Amino acid sequence: MTDKMNMDLVSYDQAKRELKRLWKRGTDFLGSEVAILGGAMSWVSEHHLVSAISNAGGFGVIACGAMEPEMLAVEIEATQALTKKPFGVNLITMHPKLSELIDVCLRLKVHYIVLAGGIPSSTAIRQIKDGGARVIAFAPALILAKRLLKMGVDALVIEGAEAGGHIGPVSLTVLAQEILPVIREIPVFVAGGLGRGDAIVSFLELGASGAQLGTMFAAAVESQAHERFKKAFIHASARDAVASVQLDDSFPVIPVRGLSNPGTKAFMKHQAAVIQKYRNGELSKEDAQLDIEHFWAGALRRAVKEGDVEYGSVMAGQSVGMVKEILPVADIFHTLMQQAIEALVRRQQRISDM
Ligand SMILES: Cc1cc2nc3c(=O)[nH]c(=O)nc-3n(C[C@H](O)[C@H](O)[C@H](O)COP(=O)(O)O)c2cc1C
Repeated sequence: MTDKMNMDLVSYDQAKRELKRLWKRGTDFLGSEVAILGGAMSWVSEHHLVSAISNAGGFGVIACGAMEPEMLAVEIEATQALTKKPFGVNLITMHPKLSELIDVCLRLKVHYIVLAGGIPSSTAIRQIKDGGARVIAFAPALILAKRLLKMGVDALVIEGAEAGGHIGPVSLTVLAQEILPVIREIPVFVAGGLGRGDAIVSFLELGASGAQLGTMFAAAVESQAHERFKKAFIHASARDAVASVQLDDSFPVIPVRGLSNPGTKAFMKHQAAVIQKYRNGELSKEDAQLDIEHFWAGALRRAVKEGDVEYGSVMAGQSVGMVKEILPVADIFHTLMQQAIEALVRRQQRISDM
């Protein structure tokens, strides 16, 4: 072995140790080897994908979405049958049966519950913590991060507007700079637009404890999404993943990022037509708002399960441009780890060259 090869091996091992040290807080918290969560994706994050992510060393999260408690129990048990590694369950705070869903998680010994879709109530947080599980919540601004910390959440995800699915207005670059230097008490995981290990390292260096990725896993081999849904991811570039557009301030549209398709164009026309009907006095304001909201009802399921990528909602983050082929989850993790370690090797080399 040449001296150069020997030195490369030494620096590779050092970089590996450095990565472990950088995200130790995240791995200690999650109980996983790698501090990368597979962000819950409604209809996509079911037992096959979730267990594959946990088995590959990451932390899978089941998306409960609109599931009933009985269905969630089936999904949790199916995941437990496929992995002994830790995983979490993502619950939407406005689900009418939130408390029952929490009970299902606690009864089935799920130790991590991610509360999404708005600021969770103190009651929900208490119920989870009293049941012995940990609460992870989303903080879309520093002020809310501080509030969630006071409310007793155990960890935060800060998700930038680059992400797929429902999004806030601020990019991860800015959220990270606002929140990471301030919130030190609990682990903070970064999300939105992440597709490479070296980029994840840069956020670890800013103080993040780990990262959450969704889009990069949606088209994995283990994802049960329809082939057409996966192919749409392979063919898309970053600029195709656009946020939904609101036509009129009086009729709010919840911003969702997904691939632009004939459905997203039809949504614009639909809004214009409904607003016109309201102006003509043919619809009340409430009915017009409901009409706009109902446009996308069931549209994510149609895209993911039935492969309707034309008129369904193909939720995807801007990182979709980095999804080039349908790969096993383990390969995706391997590449992310290689990129992270190589970034740290390059840093060591820069320092030793000085
Ligand atoms: C198809 C899809 C569905 C999603 N559904 C949910 C959901 O049900 N609950 C949730 O908290 N986040 C949801 N997300 C967000 C992801 O959990 C994750 O935070 C996000 O994908 C991270 O950004 P990235 O897509 O750029 O990696 C969804 C994202 C996608 C792409």
